[in-house]
Amino acid sequence: MLTEVTALRYLNPLRAGGSVPGIVETDDLGTYVVKFTGAAQGRKALIAEVIVGELARRLGLRVPELVLVDFDPAVAAEEPDPEIQDILRASSGRNLGMDYLPGARDFKATTPGNGGPMVDVDPAEAGRVVWLDALTGNVDRSVHNPNLMVWHGRLWLIDNGAGLIFHHRWSGAHASLLKRYDLSNHALAAFGPDVPAADARLAPLVTEDLLREVVALVPEEWLAEEPGFSSVDEVRAAYVHHLAARARGSAAWLPDGFATPEQLRRTEAERAAARQAGRPAWLQHVPDLHGKPTAAPDWSRHID
Ligand SMILES: Nc1ncnc2c1ncn2[C@@H]1O[C@H](COP(=O)(O)OP(=O)(O)OP(=O)(O)O)[C@@H](O)[C@H]1O
Ligand SMILES: [Mg+2]
Repeated sequence: MLTEVTALRYLNPLRAGGSVPGIVETDDLGTYVVKFTGAAQGRKALIAEVIVGELARRLGLRVPELVLVDFDPAVAAEEPDPEIQDILRASSGRNLGMDYLPGARDFKATTPGNGGPMVDVDPAEAGRVVWLDALTGNVDRSVHNPNLMVWHGRLWLIDNGAGLIFHHRWSGAHASLLKRYDLSNHALAAFGPDVPAADARLAPLVTEDLLREVVALVPEEWLAEEPGFSSVDEVRAAYVHHLAARARGSAAWLPDGFATPEQLRRTEAERAAARQAGRPAWLQHVPDLHGKPTAAPDWSRHID
């Protein structure tokens, strides 16, 4: 079960998010980013947050803790924006909370040689994130909207609500079972994601047992009355079946076309050499500081 907490105070809306999540204080003395059932994205986005987020955590990726937040709109009575009030009033009951990461920054996909990355992401980690997004059909971790944060010098996955596209139309889910998604614009595409290594390591872990454990965390009421199903258990089983079959068939949808780490190193070395060659003669012997500095420049040589 996900931990259940009760909202005590609505602090403010996060307007950067399309669903306008709120920062909320709760009775466990925590602060959470809350995604509301009454937002336009609806409860399917919250189901995806739980299933994709908890699956990611079990596959070794960093995801802030998820909880269920019991929300009484009365705690946000002072929120002045009428549109936000509409969302909050429609969200009485259980909503999804993600632990608020104080001091975290939104990841920016700058690459080495272009201002330097905010955080070291190795090809193995980039590969695992890309693999998860391909498995869950999440195209919402792009260069322009990375839905990744950097906290304590490490990468954290937030906002997994756009995954599981198939659950928006169950009648067509089977046809998309082995669908390949275009992830060429992925936020980590420039980090040499080693997708085959991630596949070898992660695909065998995505078993029906693991998926059952993750899908069981979704509250009953978010899954109720799904057209085409006669019970909530049937809906849970459909998620397990779909994701297990997709993991087994990964050869069909594995994203490719990313530069390999070796190609990235070569491109960066060529760029550095070109920059060095373009410098005036008097600067030729000073190390290139544009990319990652390899050694401190010896300024003593310039002092007469
Ligand atoms: N756990 C967190 N800790 C700190 N800040 C967060 C956290 N979750 C989200 N944020 C901040 O709020 C912003 C919006 O969050 P998020 O992307 O989850 O919302 P959304 O409504 O799903 O957005 P989108 O427009 O991508 O659909 C993030 O870009 C980030 O700056
Ligand atoms: Mg987002």
